[in-house]
Amino acid sequence: MNTQSNGERILVVGVGGLGEHMVHEALERGAQVSVMVRDRTKLEDRLDADTLVRLTRITVGDATDPAALDEAMQGIDVVLSGNGAHKKMAREMAEAVKRNGVRKLLWPAGGTNLLADDGITPAYKAYANAGFNAEAIYKAHQACIDAIRDAGVNYVIFCPGRMTPAGHRSPDVASTIRVNRVAGMAVSYEDAAWVILEAALTNIWDRQLISAATPS
Ligand SMILES: NC(=O)c1ccc[n+]([C@@H]2O[C@H](COP(=O)([O-])OP(=O)(O)OC[C@H]3O[C@@H](n4cnc5c(N)ncnc54)[C@H](OP(=O)(O)O)[C@@H]3O)[C@@H](O)[C@H]2O)c1
Repeated sequence: MNTQSNGERILVVGVGGLGEHMVHEALERGAQVSVMVRDRTKLEDRLDADTLVRLTRITVGDATDPAALDEAMQGIDVVLSGNGAHKKMAREMAEAVKRNGVRKLLWPAGGTNLLADDGITPAYKAYANAGFNAEAIYKAHQACIDAIRDAGVNYVIFCPGRMTPAGHRSPDVASTIRVNRVAGMAVSYEDAAWVILEAALTNIWDRQLISAATPS
């Protein structure tokens, strides 16, 4: 499975660690890729010149601003968020997706929002044991999931554990994908981007929460 784009027009909102890898993955699959960022200089520092020239459109604006979102979503088929745990952004982006007739919103949440087969969330436990406020992390992500569902748009929520760059994609991340269950505690940005583009270009996980893990 490595679904190629039929020239889908994809918008990546927020080009940080995950966003950068989603841009590369989408271009590699033949999509037309636009981005929305708050700071153009940061984007130019993050992406190499060859990637920058391949972008269809760069919109500079805040993803909580409805007017900026409307500008960025003109002629867009699928929106990929490069930022999560931001309820206002989730709500405004979902509303903009609806207003602008975008087919689907892909959103990153967290591993705390998925159960393991035994009914326990391993990420929640790990954060709590490490002294983090696991409940606050869970609630921040869940508020975004609820806002997207409330807007009534089509979506896929990707719930990763810790994400870091690996420098390459795993050969078998597809075999780790779980629906409404946690796949593991960590996934590389490369593997996360691969899963998110599969979700963007097919309808197999529409309206689901999914996860994946990079095999160690
Ligand atoms: N990294 C992890 O281990 C991990 C694990 C589980 C879940 N997640 C979720 O996955 C998301 C992506 O992870 P990441 O590691 O790629 O994060 P990241 O490197 O911090 O990237 C987030 C990007 O979102 C942009 N952004 C934030 N608010 C924005 C706004 N209002 N308008 C436009 N852009 C905005 C930031 O832009 P600026 O550069 O302008 O700030 C940044 O480029 C996280 O936000 C988190 O919710 C991450």
